Amino acid sequence: MTLNLNAIGKKIGPLVKEYTWKDPVLYALGVGAGFDDLEYVWEDGLKVIPSFSIASIFDFLAETAIKAEVDLSGILHGEQDIIFHNPIPPEGTLTTEGRLTDIYDKGKDKGAIVIAEANTFHLNGQKLYTNIFKLFCRKDGGFGGDPGPKETIKIPDREPDYTENAVPTKNQPLLYRLSGDIFALHIDTEYAKQSGFERPIMHGLCTHGYACRAVIKHLFPGNPERMNRFRVRFSKTVYPGTPIKTQIWKTGENEAVFRTINAETQDVILDLGKVEWLSSGEQARRKKLGDINFDGKVAVITGAGAGLGKAYALELSRRGAKVLINDLGGAPDGTGSSSSAADLAVKEIKNTGGEASASYDSVATPEGGRAVIDKAVKLWGRVDILINNAGILRDRTLAKMEPDTWKSVMDVHLNGAFHVTKPAYVKMKEQGYGRIVFTTSAAGLYGNFGQSNYSSAKMGLIGLMNSIKIEGENAGIKVNTIAPIAGTRLTREVIPPDLFEKLKPEFVVPIVLYLCSELCPVSGNVYNAGMGYFNRAAVVTGPGAVIGDGQTPPTPEEIALKMASIKSMDPPKEYFNATSALSPMLDAFNPESIDAGETAGCPEITVAAIFEKMPDAFQPDAAKGVDAIFQYTISGPNGGEWYSVISKENCTVDQGKHENPTTTIKMNDDDFLALMGGKLNPMTAYTSGKLKIEGDIIKSQLIDKLFKF
Ligand code: NAI
Repeated sequence: MTLNLNAIGKKIGPLVKEYTWKDPVLYALGVGAGFDDLEYVWEDGLKVIPSFSIASIFDFLAETAIKAEVDLSGILHGEQDIIFHNPIPPEGTLTTEGRLTDIYDKGKDKGAIVIAEANTFHLNGQKLYTNIFKLFCRKDGGFGGDPGPKETIKIPDREPDYTENAVPTKNQPLLYRLSGDIFALHIDTEYAKQSGFERPIMHGLCTHGYACRAVIKHLFPGNPERMNRFRVRFSKTVYPGTPIKTQIWKTGENEAVFRTINAETQDVILDLGKVEWLSSGEQARRKKLGDINFDGKVAVITGAGAGLGKAYALELSRRGAKVLINDLGGAPDGTGSSSSAADLAVKEIKNTGGEASASYDSVATPEGGRAVIDKAVKLWGRVDILINNAGILRDRTLAKMEPDTWKSVMDVHLNGAFHVTKPAYVKMKEQGYGRIVFTTSAAGLYGNFGQSNYSSAKMGLIGLMNSIKIEGENAGIKVNTIAPIAGTRLTREVIPPDLFEKLKPEFVVPIVLYLCSELCPVSGNVYNAGMGYFNRAAVVTGPGAVIGDGQTPPTPEEIALKMASIKSMDPPKEYFNATSALSPMLDAFNPESIDAGETAGCPEITVAAIFEKMPDAFQPDAAKGVDAIFQYTISGPNGGEWYSVISKENCTVDQGKHENPTTTIKMNDDDFLALMGGKLNPMTAYTSGKLKIEGDIIKSQLIDKLFKF
């Protein structure tokens, strides 16, 4: 069986986990904390050990292995690298999502490496950490793939600067497993023996927790929130009760390398460990700036030489982004051009130590739009953020609107946004990440006298956003629209002077930065913002009315009669896309949808019924070249023995015991029903011991494909 290379880039999650303060405490006890480090175990001022982060991703690990179609009998946790963005709160809800990023081939006898990356967010909106882990798949190498990069960490050739001794108790895995990793290998002696061990072994990630505590204790005691990165390779197993030693070498102001050894045999259990932590200055800076920062991000802002665009650029730069300031430098009606607006904004950023560059292209042409993005990519290799902000005004009433006046406004606002967004979107898709903000206006959303060109362009941008939100959904691209109100040169003539002074562009900046950040949870939204007031605008649809039977068109008179319910917006409903918006109409005339509602109480499915249906659920196409006999031993009151014989793309199912099965699957009846009903993840079932497989374990992984219920 070969690995599924198509899984690369595939999204995993979101997986949600709620936790209370007792979870980090239980984790801390599981990794040996006690009276010596009360801050980890006492709810009064509780601090969370950073390595607790892995407790939120066990299901993610399982999903990764399933997506890659790894041979489970050869799987080991290879490496774990955690990047911390914010301290972990003692309780809340964690949402983790990510993707399988790479599969490397070390060679036929050496195995394969499956790499996945998961970002975890707290319900409070903060991004907490990024876990990058490597699964070492001992039996999946030799498929002719790239061996991947070789990285190594040098352990200094001298005595360690610090050593931390610990003796995990003989019962340590029993406590540690309560944090989520309930793999039978750490509790079931019989299972451990089948896997080649004398008895249950320590969880590698439990030793990892001991090492995490040790480095904090010696390098930044009492401040786990300063941990910035913690990576390690798992190299050997150890039995509970064996003394361990974490050796630490400081290699820089804020970095150290470490390893953990078996103190009896001197075998290295955790190797090539590296820890990085924040200086107190950097920690203070992060605290001051709050949690949203743009370190390493590249932002392109059109029309950033003045007004709102410049305010966005300054704050993005202050928070770490590299900024491309695009501005044509013309008059408010778009006539003329000058490099000075963009140059001055760039200078201002550089004076404060930021990184910025100017682009003077007009967004109003396709070449101009492309040149803006090309410049950012040439300078910094990527585009993470695009704010479409450039704008002009040429107000006329419709009666006096000339095609040129109409077109020039369309060209800057609507066409301009297309010209810049298209190449940026392509780049973002390639990167698998992007944030796009469009700028609409109350004139477009609600209408304004003398602005039919401007209102049309501004509303057109919402249509553009609506489609991109769907097209970019699976590429990590989030797109939203802002309707600002601010005192700038565009509004000087229309806003009374006292109000003009109060409507500072800086009041619009916070929400735009939030929408540009990794934290941004929304896509396809429109927000009004000004002077510290923010609200959401949306297209909503009323419940509607059914007139007639869908066979004969109703008359205008019938419409007149029913107009009150047709125009009613009570209750309003928002739809994510055009198809879902059609569903009330289709449902209204679909008798099945009515019947479906009335068919309550489906008969409960039984284990025996599943085996009865098995031949119908068989997929001959997936069985090409497969010869296998699966024996199912299902315990519990609804259980029994069944076997299926797969041969020559055919399947038979019988009750009883086969004499010579290829693979035997053992489960209890409830777990089996949960598994078949998609409520129990097969990998979780396997690692927790709920699903026991004997014989050819690889063939068992085909079951998923051979039968579709
Ligand atoms: P602004 O005039 O201060 O800034 C707009 C910038 O866009 C200018 O620096 C201008 O040189 C640049 N620009 C114009 N045409 C360009 C082109 N073809 N290529 C590149 N750059 C170009 O105006 P403000 O108020 O900061 O406007 C920013 C955006 O916010 C505009 O899209 C505007 O329509 C929108 N808006 C502003 C409101 C407000 O109350 N200020 C209200 C609603 C929307």
